[in-house]
Amino acid sequence: MKVHNVEMIGSFVRPEQFPEDGLPEFALAGRSNVGKSSFINRMIGRKAMARISSKPGKTQQLNFYKIEEQLYYVDVPGYGYAKVSKSERAAWGKMIEKYFMGRDQLRAVVLIIDIRHNPTNDDCMMYDFLKHYNIPVIVVATKADKIPKGKWDKHKKHVRETLQMDKQDPLIVFSSEKGLGFEEAWAEIESRM
Ligand code: GTP
Ligand code: MG
Repeated sequence: MKVHNVEMIGSFVRPEQFPEDGLPEFALAGRSNVGKSSFINRMIGRKAMARISSKPGKTQQLNFYKIEEQLYYVDVPGYGYAKVSKSERAAWGKMIEKYFMGRDQLRAVVLIIDIRHNPTNDDCMMYDFLKHYNIPVIVVATKADKIPKGKWDKHKKHVRETLQMDKQDPLIVFSSEKGLGFEEAWAEIESRM
């Protein structure tokens, strides 16, 4: 998709605040600092539309970006940040559960993992959660610019094995820095709109 028009609709917590125009939504999920906001920025061709966080784990809201009047990217606060209090973690869980499980417009969750490392326990839990509730998942292994191309296949294999991914679920090698995987990611998104 060629993106000309992006609108930041708002930062919301409660379902009654979410947009009501029924456009398809694609939400990001992944560890804090893994590159979720950077993925959105690359996909929409804006350097800093989605906030690249200086304080990981502090965002407690869902940020809705409307693209070409056709779809939303929803930036979701990351998980796994150590310095988050118990009550903040619980609030995060409640918000995510409500949104992921109860949102008809949600076409897929883009689960971002770091291609350099094996997925964490939290990554596995998120993948299992999405599968359990039949929410389609697109796994994106980002920061591919940080390892040589010759190692991508090996790392992809580790990701598939660790997450115990369904064969039919896509796994896209990506780099927000270099734009790698951009076409493939848009093709996945557009096929689900
Ligand atoms: P939270 O909102 O805190 O959960 O983080 P996030 O997942 O949105 O990560 P964010 O996009 O803010 O990126 C975190 C850091 O990783 C920033 O310093 C980015 O510049 C860097 N980064 C993200 N994607 C890439 C990538 O593909 N390649 C490289 N080299 N750096 C990246
Ligand atoms: Mg972010």
